[in-house]
Amino acid sequence: MHGNSINKIIDALDLAPHPEGGYFKETYRSTDEINQSCLPEGYKGKRNYATCIYFLLTSDDFSAFHRIKQDEIWHFYDGSPLRLHTISESGLHQTQIIGKYFDKGETPQLIVPGGHWFGAEVIEENSYSLVGCTVSPGFSFNDFELKSKKELSNLFPHCKKIIERLTHF
Ligand code: GUN
Repeated sequence: MHGNSINKIIDALDLAPHPEGGYFKETYRSTDEINQSCLPEGYKGKRNYATCIYFLLTSDDFSAFHRIKQDEIWHFYDGSPLRLHTISESGLHQTQIIGKYFDKGETPQLIVPGGHWFGAEVIEENSYSLVGCTVSPGFSFNDFELKSKKELSNLFPHCKKIIERLTHF
């Protein structure tokens, strides 16, 4: 797909660059909040009940390995299927594909369990994937962790190859 058409989507949906790669816009943040005392251990401060974003990734970029505390629900909207890599805290590397070619085993939703490291790549060349990501408790950059190639490869030496490919620094 031509870069101009991708730019049109970025403009129309008012997306901004995301620190993990790609573009996003928060579309929902509940006004109600959960107090820290009612949240699982590890959350500092209160969180909204839930948040939702649009997330657009292009095939010349990737979403770098990062993690958050809560489960993240992904929804497929448009473009190429997207391959999501997860590495559990015990080091299990798994891939899942979100997309609409259901006969190939793709699914329109994916779940990333809280605490898993995850990164993503667009499968088709010259394309993009437009997805949604919903989390509850709501998203906060305080719960967001990015690690360097070196730090992550030291943690998961058997995943060095995929970590090298899906980290920016
Ligand atoms: N809001 C800003 N960044 C993110 C993200 O990576 N995931 C979710 N769910 N919400 C966000």
